[in-house]
Amino acid sequence: MIDKIKATADYLKSKVSEIPQTAIILGTGLGALVDHIEEKKYIPYNEIPNFPVSTVEGHSGNLIFGKLGSTPVIAMQGRFHYYEGYDMKEVTFPVRVFQALGVKKLYVSNAAGGMNKEFRVGDVMVITDHINLFPENPLRGRNNPDLGPRFPAMTEAYSKRLCKAAFEVAAQKGIRLMSGVYVGTPGPTFETPAEYEYFRIIGGDAVGMSTVPEVIVANHAGMEVFGVSVITDLGGKDVTEVPSHEEVQKAAESAQPKMMEIIKALVALN
Ligand code: HPA
Repeated sequence: MIDKIKATADYLKSKVSEIPQTAIILGTGLGALVDHIEEKKYIPYNEIPNFPVSTVEGHSGNLIFGKLGSTPVIAMQGRFHYYEGYDMKEVTFPVRVFQALGVKKLYVSNAAGGMNKEFRVGDVMVITDHINLFPENPLRGRNNPDLGPRFPAMTEAYSKRLCKAAFEVAAQKGIRLMSGVYVGTPGPTFETPAEYEYFRIIGGDAVGMSTVPEVIVANHAGMEVFGVSVITDLGGKDVTEVPSHEEVQKAAESAQPKMMEIIKALVALN
């Protein structure tokens, strides 16, 4: 595993002149943030040694090196989902590669279903915490102390500093910004009405099929993490609309300028 991570990191180092300390994972329908990255260098996943290849419609699959404002960044256009059949080590492999490259900050985004009754479709939610309902933890197995501690704390899995800064940016720019707890599920089914209710009762505000594995590994790696969910559909016992992948993509695309403004401002803070 370590050898693979190192080989991939070495390959990427040979491809770019400057290695960023900030990485961004772009979720479903949220890939347009890359339009704001300048001096872009695209590296398709299928050219990167040891990288899994993305399979889902709407997830294009490139690593993009460039600058967001004046900050060098690496963006993942498309991520690897557990529901696609990848195991947890594959899902989180890119985060390990970022770690080997010296990345210190990870920004993650996703499309999610809203359970909080105040949420509306198209809202952006800062993730303040998560509940891991994946059947496996990405850190299961022998721990390599060079990568991180055996029992990492998850007390501040999402940076309080960056959450606070996000609300300052939103207030300045007049963006309606929500915050809440993200429930990570394996998917690929959307929830039954009873499941949305249950996730609300256990403390969730939004639910999705990603992010939690990458955030666990990023914390293990000592990175500072900022996460946002774009609310693409609402769930609960009084909701009759049926979520679909197309709708999720459309709602994410329409909300993405707001998300982009926030991420761009936070990345500039350093
Ligand atoms: N449930 C799970 N994942 C999702 C949803 C949802 O309602 N919306 C977007 N991703």
